[in-house]
Amino acid sequence: MSKPETQTNQSEIVSKHKEFLFPAVATYYREPLALVRGEGEHVWDDQGNKYLDCFGGVLTVSVGHANPKVNEAVIEQIKKIQHTSTLYANKPQSDLAEKLHQITPGRLKKSFFTSSGTEADDMAIHSAKIATGRHEIVVLRHSYSGRSATALSATGHSTWRPLPPQVAGIVHARAPYCYRCPYKLTYPECGLACAEDIEELIMTTTTGEIAAFMAEPILGVGGFIVPPAGYFERVAEITRKHGGLFIADEVQTGWGRTGDKWFGIEHWNVEPDIITSAKGLGNGVPVGITVATPEVADKFPGLTFSTFGGNPVSMAAALAVIKFIEDEDLKTNAAKVGAYFRQRLEELKDKYTVIGDVRGMGLMQALELVKDRETKEPDPQSVLKVFEETKRRGVLIGKGGLYGNVIRTGVMLNSTKDTIDELIAALDSAFSGAAT
Ligand SMILES: Cc1ncc(COP(=O)(O)O)c(C=O)c1O
Repeated sequence: MSKPETQTNQSEIVSKHKEFLFPAVATYYREPLALVRGEGEHVWDDQGNKYLDCFGGVLTVSVGHANPKVNEAVIEQIKKIQHTSTLYANKPQSDLAEKLHQITPGRLKKSFFTSSGTEADDMAIHSAKIATGRHEIVVLRHSYSGRSATALSATGHSTWRPLPPQVAGIVHARAPYCYRCPYKLTYPECGLACAEDIEELIMTTTTGEIAAFMAEPILGVGGFIVPPAGYFERVAEITRKHGGLFIADEVQTGWGRTGDKWFGIEHWNVEPDIITSAKGLGNGVPVGITVATPEVADKFPGLTFSTFGGNPVSMAAALAVIKFIEDEDLKTNAAKVGAYFRQRLEELKDKYTVIGDVRGMGLMQALELVKDRETKEPDPQSVLKVFEETKRRGVLIGKGGLYGNVIRTGVMLNSTKDTIDELIAALDSAFSGAAT
């Protein structure tokens, strides 16, 4: 294979990374990859090696690297005007806000734009507190909300929390993690004990009245934990009984990723008061959104500002991503290709006992690895082996879970069965070599 013009000495890029970045900026793989180019479903490293990208920079490259339609929109917008700040209106921002009103569920109407999921979640929590006049928030264990003081306090992972929670009044409910049920029960005989416990959590650890419940429809960083049927409906009832708003964090689950619907929460019979999202909306361009009902948005007082919020270039990219998903019917594609993917993953589970659980929705599918199917002891070592083996076979995957024992995938929304076959073949041979 001819080497790309952008080739440099790999060790130079990686060694500068190691020398000049915070060590906490950890990279995947024993020998970290330096990526220099991306096109469609593929990326290239600085040694000229080509990889099938099945994680999209954490479910962020949603419609393919360097998607020509998105690139064109970005280039056209840069030529017109790159930055305005929110002190002036701009067309892509107004158009995206209108579009979000059209495609978000229920009565969501008014948007606030930022540059990341962290800021989107912060804005949602602040808005809920202001709108309700209350200050306590219920979130889930195994959740991830980002890096600000508020988002870190809301996050339900010690591994991602360098400091103790800095913001008071955030309580963590048991996750609806059926594979590792915190009550050692089985659905549906459990009677949704994890949802029911939220009422006691509110009554015992808060003032009894909350500002909001915030959750990811599928816990992403937590390892694609999918709540059982009826869970969100019951939690929404309890939340509203205690004065709270329902916030759906769609940073990973938005934009058709879960199949057939724009947003993950639409698979359950719940109308959120606020939705947040980021990642896949920009296909790699930094963008964060907080969309609220008019009652919530209109109560936000006085002035607020985000320098890069509503940036015309990010907004143009987001509009192009949404248009591409619509034009190519990618919500349907995510459901169809996702169903095929799921069936192929279940076949792998039948073959390899190290796979304890297969879960997810649409094109958000994960494998939880265990040392023993009875004890369910987490097996992060096998994840690392599978990582090295799949990389050797030219396929990139992701990981997650509190114990680092979950393989996460986030192929592009416009992936085909061929993509899945290539990914499955790499996983199959990696498992046969690494985890039996
Ligand atoms: C569900 C969820 N919310 C919020 C965030 C924070 O987003 P960002 O990293 O863009 O600040 C993430 C990031 O992974 C996420 O997965």
